[in-house]
Amino acid sequence: MKILVTGGLGFMGSNLIRHLFTSYPEHSIWNLDVITYAGNPDNLKDVEDLERDLPEHKKRYHFVRGDICDERLLDYLLGEHSFDAIIHLAAETHVDRSIHDTRHFIRTNVGGTHALLDAIRSRPVNRFVHISTDEVYGDRTNEGHAHENSAFMPSNPYSASKAAGDLLVQSYIRTYNIPAIIIRPSNNFGPYQYPEKLIPLSVSNILEGKKIPLHGTGEYMRSWLFVGDFCRAVDILLHEGHIGEHYNISGHPCTNLDIAKLIAKRLEKNPEHVIAFVADRPGQDKSYLLSGEKLKTRHNWTHKHAFEEAIAHTVDWYVANKSWWQKVRATPGFRDYYKEQIEGRWF
Ligand code: NAD
Ligand code: TYD
Repeated sequence: MKILVTGGLGFMGSNLIRHLFTSYPEHSIWNLDVITYAGNPDNLKDVEDLERDLPEHKKRYHFVRGDICDERLLDYLLGEHSFDAIIHLAAETHVDRSIHDTRHFIRTNVGGTHALLDAIRSRPVNRFVHISTDEVYGDRTNEGHAHENSAFMPSNPYSASKAAGDLLVQSYIRTYNIPAIIIRPSNNFGPYQYPEKLIPLSVSNILEGKKIPLHGTGEYMRSWLFVGDFCRAVDILLHEGHIGEHYNISGHPCTNLDIAKLIAKRLEKNPEHVIAFVADRPGQDKSYLLSGEKLKTRHNWTHKHAFEEAIAHTVDWYVANKSWWQKVRATPGFRDYYKEQIEGRWF
């Protein structure tokens, strides 16, 4: 298989490329990424190193720096390589940033998805795997578990832009018979996650002698999915998912406060000394709850990693890979944003 992955220098994309690269010696992978503040070439340095001395025609991993909104580039790439499959992860992903400035979110998550869909209309592929999110279903506090056919009720500019992208894919499936599969994973965590997201931010803050800034009272609930389990689910659906179907990937429900306590415990800190309650995010979703039964019953997927073990493994990874996140936290992309964030200025 020749596979194009978009956004492969980000957190989930880089984990997925590593998974596919090591699991399938017969697959070759192209990674299209524009390298925003969240894209990091260090995330796939190990894969690049494995291929460094190989002649070009023997390489199975290829990086292309480019924008998914660039129609001419997409037309060239799809025409040149005749990909069997595209896995689309490229996106602006941080809810807090979408509250500060919505423009990049609409451009990439809606416009970029649209450009890819149009490119496929003229240069067909066998499979387009679209990575959406559980956030399209919105706050589940009074709604219960979201199933694949639950209504979309996005609450913030990020989730609204992802919902728009998801709906565009649905419309292209029906109108143009695009061979797409839509995947809606819950909150992922694990190695290589940009340290603005709750778990890597908490670990790196504590290791820098700072506190975990918990929004509100910390009682908000998310469904947490270890990124290795996400990669296995995408792998299954890439190879055997049914065209035109939507699949949730559920995780382990846990409040932010309980996550913060688990992290503090793993780092041998008293939670009371390392947790600070800060101004809440406007429009905060109190609870995400997802039913992942469809993927489990139809495709036999299940979590391989128990939640607390996966959290411990993740914390240990950030302890062992200090230089990775210290380098990220030293960039203007992190520093300038975070300065604004801790001052609590949302608008
Ligand atoms: P990330 O922010 O870590 O990485 C995003 C990547 O996309 C970066 O490498 C960035 O450079 C690239 N990118 C952004 N705009 C681009 C553009 N215009 N052209 C090309 N590349 C571009 O994201 P992530 O956390 O790995 O999320 C990956 C996907 O999974 C996203 O679509 C996200 O909405 C979805 N998702 C994430 C989570 C989560 O918990 N992180 C949960 C559910 C769904
Ligand atoms: P986040 O990791 O940003 O993912 P998402 O908003 O996409 O679910 O946040 C997860 C939860 O943690 C969410 O309820 C907001 C909360 N949170 C904090 O309490 N403090 C923080 O500094 C961040 C980044 C998030």
